Order: sequence, then C-alpha cells, then structure tokens
Amino acid sequence: NFVNNFIDDQRWRYIWDGLGVTLQVTFFALILGVILGFLLAVIRATYDKTGKLKVLNFISQLYITIIRGTPVVVQLLIIFFVIFGSVNISKIIVAILAFGFNSSAYVAEIVRSGIMSIDKGQFEAGRSLGFNYVQTMIYIILPQAFKNILPALGNEFIVLLKETSVSGYIALQDLTRGGDIIRSRTYNAFMPLIAVALIYLTMVLIFTKLVNMLERRLRNSEH
Ligand code: ARG
Repeated sequence: NFVNNFIDDQRWRYIWDGLGVTLQVTFFALILGVILGFLLAVIRATYDKTGKLKVLNFISQLYITIIRGTPVVVQLLIIFFVIFGSVNISKIIVAILAFGFNSSAYVAEIVRSGIMSIDKGQFEAGRSLGFNYVQTMIYIILPQAFKNILPALGNEFIVLLKETSVSGYIALQDLTRGGDIIRSRTYNAFMPLIAVALIYLTMVLIFTKLVNMLERRLRNSEH
C-alpha cells in the first residue's frame, strides 16, 4: 500500500540512515571533545596559575595549535588513510575520533577562557576552606566557569554538528552524503538537498532551545 511504499522508499532510507550516522558521530564526538577539552584547559590553566605541568602544558599547546591550524577535512583524511590506513576500522569510529579531537581544541580554549574569567579570590576562597588545588578547581572554579561558557559551548556543539557534514570525504554515509546520493540517482537536486538542509536547521533550533533552557535554569539557581 501507499504508506508502506513511502516508508520502504530507498530515498527515505538514505535520509533516515544518514541522520542516524550524523547523530551518532556528533554525540560521541561531543563527549570526546568535551572530556579532552576540559582536560587540556585545566592543564593550561594550571600552568598559567601555578607554573606546574610545564611539559604537559607544552604538549597541550602544541596539540591545540596543530588541530586549530589545519582543516578538519584534512585531519579526517589523515586519520582514515594514514593513521588507520592499513587497518580495517569502522568509518564511524574514524569520524568520531576526527571530529572529537578537532572539537577538543576549540573546547579547550573556551573552557580556559572560562577559568580565566573567575576571580582569583575564588581560588583563595577554596584554599581557606581547606581545599587543595584540584578540589578548588572541581568544586569551586569549574562550576562557575561552566555557567559562563555555556553559550560558547552550545555554539561549539552547533559547529560540530554541521562540521560532520564533511564525513562524505571518507565515504561515510551521513545525512549530507545520503542526500547527495539521492541527488545523483534521481537527477533531482532540489528536493533531497533542501530536505537535508531543513533537517540540520531543525536539529540546530531544537538544540539552541535546550541550551537556552539550561542557561536560564543555571541563572535562576544563582541565589
Ligand atoms: N571548518 C573549519 C575547519 O575545517 C573549522 C572547524 C571548527 N570546528 C569546531 N569544532 N569549532 O577546521
């Protein structure tokens, strides 16, 4: 019947499966990027404030410079064809690593600016409560920094989501590649590409809404 034909239609499969790939890559890359980014930021901020972790700081700085100084497409291709060139590895994993590592460098700078924005009296407050440096960082500095950098982190997530659209460079069938396959097979460019654009737009709008809600919530919990 009509409904089944509509759902079984290969065209929707490309969009639907592609959307699944895009969401998976974005989700896991986000987690990787946030964890690694916070780590890099804390290393850099610790060096700035105490002069400790000199070697780690140097490595972090080098890493951030290289990641931010080269296009994410080139990083994706290098991870796929050079680093994992001779092993059989899932393209989704490669994409997660590429976009996750890429995002971590940007997250690191966002978080570092957040830590720097916290008055140094807050560090002293932590010390006077008997906290050591790490405890002060975790319980006093990072929660306040997080509130300040939430809009920037939200923006980074939006960039990351859209950035995954270059996954097709390693022939990973994400949402964008799915739409493009439909374009090439049906000789109808308008419908699939506009559909793809609208799906990204919808995801971005939903996410923006969620970040705004979280922001309001954190602000209201201030007093
Ligand atoms: N598209 C640019 C590049 O190829 C910018 C990537 C920005 N990525 C990010 N997660 N903020 O490197």
